[in-house]
Amino acid sequence: MREEIGQKHRYAHSARVARCAEILAVRYGADPGKARVAGLLHDIARLYTPERLLAECAARGLAIHEAERAAPVLLHARLGAALARERFAVTDPEVLSAIEKHTLGDADMSPLDCALYLADGLEPGRAFAERAALWELAKIDRTAAMRATLALTIGYVRARGLSPAPRALAAARAFGVET
Ligand SMILES: [Fe+2]
Ligand SMILES: [Fe+2]
Repeated sequence: MREEIGQKHRYAHSARVARCAEILAVRYGADPGKARVAGLLHDIARLYTPERLLAECAARGLAIHEAERAAPVLLHARLGAALARERFAVTDPEVLSAIEKHTLGDADMSPLDCALYLADGLEPGRAFAERAALWELAKIDRTAAMRATLALTIGYVRARGLSPAPRALAAARAFGVET
């Protein structure tokens, strides 16, 4: 993975996410080994250019939604799951689901999906004011942490004058956030 990802900074993030996801998985009754694999591999396509993301998704017949056409970086989650399968022989549907959902979330999220989503957003390398408190919350209450993190993310996107992706809104609503 260190070679594949091609950047120290992104690898360090992935290693921290793996560790945090493992911690949360234990708390949520999910498999910590699966969380660690998902954490290590989740950003495998994160450094691809927009052109490459669009081309590689098209080559695999992955549907490209409107929000992804406008912001191809979003595709690194679904393409990442495809690459985890192709390059690292990951076949576990729970691991692949967590990788697919790590950026926007989803209306239907398992405890493992949440462990990766929260680990990615709340690992100690993230620098925003609410991070530490949200991480503490994530360790004790999965639903409350998902609700708070999704609400914060959507608020942040809107504050920048952008529209949240439909999947992010669906995820937020599923956890009881008023959108
Ligand atoms: Fe990512
Ligand atoms: Fe990430």
